[in-house]
Amino acid sequence: MTPGFPTPAWLVGCGNMAGAMVAGWRSAGVDLSGVTAIRPSGTAVEGVTTVTALPKGEAPRFVMLGVKPQKLDEVAPGLAPHVGRDTILVSLLAGVSAATLRARFPHARAIVRAMANLPVAERRGVTALYSEDDDAAARDTVDALIALLGAAPWCEDEAAFSVIGAVAGSGPAYVARFAAALARGGEGLGLDPDLARAIATQTLVGTAAMAQRESMADIARRVASPNGTTEQGLAVLDAQDGLQRLVDAMLGAAIARGKQLAAEAAARH
Ligand SMILES: NC(=O)c1ccc[n+]([C@@H]2O[C@H](COP(=O)([O-])OP(=O)(O)OC[C@H]3O[C@@H](n4cnc5c(N)ncnc54)[C@H](OP(=O)(O)O)[C@@H]3O)[C@@H](O)[C@H]2O)c1
Repeated sequence: MTPGFPTPAWLVGCGNMAGAMVAGWRSAGVDLSGVTAIRPSGTAVEGVTTVTALPKGEAPRFVMLGVKPQKLDEVAPGLAPHVGRDTILVSLLAGVSAATLRARFPHARAIVRAMANLPVAERRGVTALYSEDDDAAARDTVDALIALLGAAPWCEDEAAFSVIGAVAGSGPAYVARFAAALARGGEGLGLDPDLARAIATQTLVGTAAMAQRESMADIARRVASPNGTTEQGLAVLDAQDGLQRLVDAMLGAAIARGKQLAAEAAARH
């Protein structure tokens, strides 16, 4: 049987990320009849009731916080009175610690941090999960819903959770940038721009399919015959560990920003 939401369920903020998760749940056939999205613009979210302000009436048993981290201060005071001992709170906010969330929502039954990436819409996402609350049933409820959207690893500590956020949460942007650079390179060498984009995209999709069956190293090895053309290209990427250094610096910058956001959110309380 398809897992469902404890209802009423509120999606407080439902833009890019929460919207992508709803798309994944919709395609998984999850019953969304008791789910309400709350967003100031009132822009409809397909499959769920959409309203512009917190509903009155029965308290929610499930709340997913999908606003920007900087909006927590604006949203928490009005939301906290609705988050009681029957409410599971799932936070999508990057860089806002479980301790900060607990301080804002002291009565929540359980607080779970979830760091998702946009392929959740395709049910091929990665969503790291972390909770400091010892509530196995609440964890199971969240786990069952998130597992419908792709991989859902639980993290032992918040540091690992942040690293998964930097690698997978932001990852689609990084991978997309590399594919775009590949396309631009082809264009620079004379290919029609649309054709260059199409072949870069298909190369990305094809490689992703192969990577489910064999290691990245094997893929590179099979493409690059000794003394061939690819080997020359890889030598450029590998020189002085250039690509790895660039990626390490990229992840470091994202993690540093996460720490900054966490410190700002904690200081504001
Ligand atoms: N995008 C990603 O790939 C990604 C990856 C990892 C983590 N995240 C996390 O996901 C969260 C959301 O990011 P996003 O990219 O989805 O942002 P977004 O597209 O800007 O969505 C933010 C949502 O918050 C709503 N909102 C703003 N003020 C509100 C208020 N006072 N009360 C209720 N809702 C309010 C917005 O409503 P309107 O639609 O009406 O403007 C919108 O639906 C962030 O905390 C981010 O750290 C995102």
